[in-house]
Amino acid sequence: MKIKALKIKNFRNIPEADFLFSDKTNIICGRNAQGKTNLMEAVCVAIEKSFRTAKASELLPEEKEKDKAKCEIELSFFSDKYPEKENIIECGVYGGKIVRKINSVSYKEALKLYPQLKTIVFIPEDLYTVKGNPDRRRELTDETADMMNKIHHEREAVYLRALKQKNTFLSGIIDRRVSGDQLIQLSVWNEELAKAGVNVMCGRLKYFKMLCKYTCEYYGELNGAGERLEMEYISSIVKDTDIDLSDTEGVYNIYLERLKGHLDREIAVGHTLVGVHRDDVEFRINGRRAKDYGSQGQIRSIAVALRLAQARMFGEKWGEEPVVILDDVLSELDEKRREFILRHIVNSQVFITGCNDNDFGGIEEACRWKAEKGEFEKIMG
Ligand SMILES: Nc1ncnc2c1ncn2[C@@H]1O[C@H](COP(=O)(O)OP(=O)(O)O)[C@@H](O)[C@H]1O
Ligand SMILES: [Mg+2]
Repeated sequence: MKIKALKIKNFRNIPEADFLFSDKTNIICGRNAQGKTNLMEAVCVAIEKSFRTAKASELLPEEKEKDKAKCEIELSFFSDKYPEKENIIECGVYGGKIVRKINSVSYKEALKLYPQLKTIVFIPEDLYTVKGNPDRRRELTDETADMMNKIHHEREAVYLRALKQKNTFLSGIIDRRVSGDQLIQLSVWNEELAKAGVNVMCGRLKYFKMLCKYTCEYYGELNGAGERLEMEYISSIVKDTDIDLSDTEGVYNIYLERLKGHLDREIAVGHTLVGVHRDDVEFRINGRRAKDYGSQGQIRSIAVALRLAQARMFGEKWGEEPVVILDDVLSELDEKRREFILRHIVNSQVFITGCNDNDFGGIEEACRWKAEKGEFEKIMG
């Protein structure tokens, strides 16, 4: 997909802005805290979701009275397959809610017609996917499954709801004397949870192999033949994730047994101890855990390889390149990695932000804007 135009009103520190973008490369430069990331976030909010917050109210401008400030974003895009048809996304943040429409049709309905709507975002925080907490890595597997199959997101929501309800119930058993009624109730929750957990686990694993394959390939190209990257999904349910995913009943039985096996301890601690909310991904370089032993450079390479792998998977699945956003990352990368990223995303529309002119060295034929205090001035292209 290619974004053609963008209009913003009252988004974070951006009071009003209007853009016509290049199909190829768009550069936003400016000092720190001027609104570059906010602009990239506005694009992502219109298309999909913020990469910084789950709270819609944070997107409204702070200084204005919240209930008076209406945030509106209008984004027009073209699909690569139908380059003659302009599509309009209208997005509004009203209080704590984001409302979107595509060509005047509700977002949920329209998304079935426009599965190619996607931004792949590289941010400095991507490093924490490798070395941070496991929730970031679970998010990576969910995000990847979600872009390949839109149902995954709903399945995740069903799981989290069931988990919350079971945990509320568990933490309610405070005197630790469990009655027969409560045990029956818990086994009902476990069945619900196992059903939902199997869907999430199988959804993640289905695309995890491909993510590994591409990520490891890119990593090898980036860091040379002497280094071998491996990625493993660490499940709290099964030891070996190389299971037959089509045998959902078999996986369900294993999952349920595992939950049952933890019943006593779960009652004692008051929350659910096993399941997809406890899973993780391990990255190993030449057999050693990257989280503990990886150098900064190796971790950066994994982070870059992961995003490129996602972009490639998406392109292969939907027959269209996603929009790529490089927010403040080029300055952190050495020449080799920068050149590597830029070479692998030549068919995508790209947005690059940075503070210094040398962040954009070697990039020709780009439209350029200068960001200052939430305003954007076009300076080239
Ligand atoms: N909801 C908000 N309302 C008003 N200003 C905000 C809001 N959220 C963030 N900001 C401000 O926006 C400014 C620019 O942020 P950002 O886009 O991250 O800068 P950068 O140009 O470095 O990427 C910061 O000064 C921040 O305080
Ligand atoms: Mg920024």
